[in-house]
Amino acid sequence: MTDNPSNVLTRLGEARVLPVVELETSAAAAPLAKALMAGGLPVAEITFRSEAAAASIGIVRERFPEMLVGAGTVLDTEQVELAREAGSQFVVTPGFNPAVVEACVETGMPILPGINNPTGVEQAMGFGLEAVKFFPAEASGGVSFLKALSGPYGSIRFVPTGGIGPDNLGSYLALPNVLACGGSWIVSPALVRASRFDEIARLADEAVALAARKR
Ligand code: 3PG
Repeated sequence: MTDNPSNVLTRLGEARVLPVVELETSAAAAPLAKALMAGGLPVAEITFRSEAAAASIGIVRERFPEMLVGAGTVLDTEQVELAREAGSQFVVTPGFNPAVVEACVETGMPILPGINNPTGVEQAMGFGLEAVKFFPAEASGGVSFLKALSGPYGSIRFVPTGGIGPDNLGSYLALPNVLACGGSWIVSPALVRASRFDEIARLADEAVALAARKR
């Protein structure tokens, strides 16, 4: 069962910040979800950069139904299936892989494919998508890139990710075509490894406060 793509986009747009998460072990999934919720940010993109991704998504979905959980760094259609079976509510990819996008669109799985040029935007539009990830945001032109694209692609919303943190979050969120910003600064692998979930909650809370200023 997947969520309606518009619902997922609405929820991402409400959260405004999408923590990108890499978990070495699924034992960290529950404390991480609790920390993010304590910080007022009940959303996470759990990346398939570790073997623990699918199990972690499953744990969060089962134990924290109020969380919005997506699968990140999805590189092939097998991972789309793993994400779906785990209960993932959306899929995020670093680049634009037509086979992965098709596998999601055909089955109603919301997807944010990564793009960093106009061609990518048009490919996404060709699949009927309303939003894409802009990756790597800072290295690809950042805020000025998004301003330039607002002319020709007025209906597309972006989730810039890559090089975003507390210092530049506000400049992205101020743009009307930015749905939410992604980033790993809230849930760094080092903080998870050290079980510093209180610090993760604090960083989530800080991000929520910064985002609120841009509403
Ligand atoms: C991603 O997978 O989306 C990026 O690695 C996140 O980029 P960041 O680490 O610069 O936030």
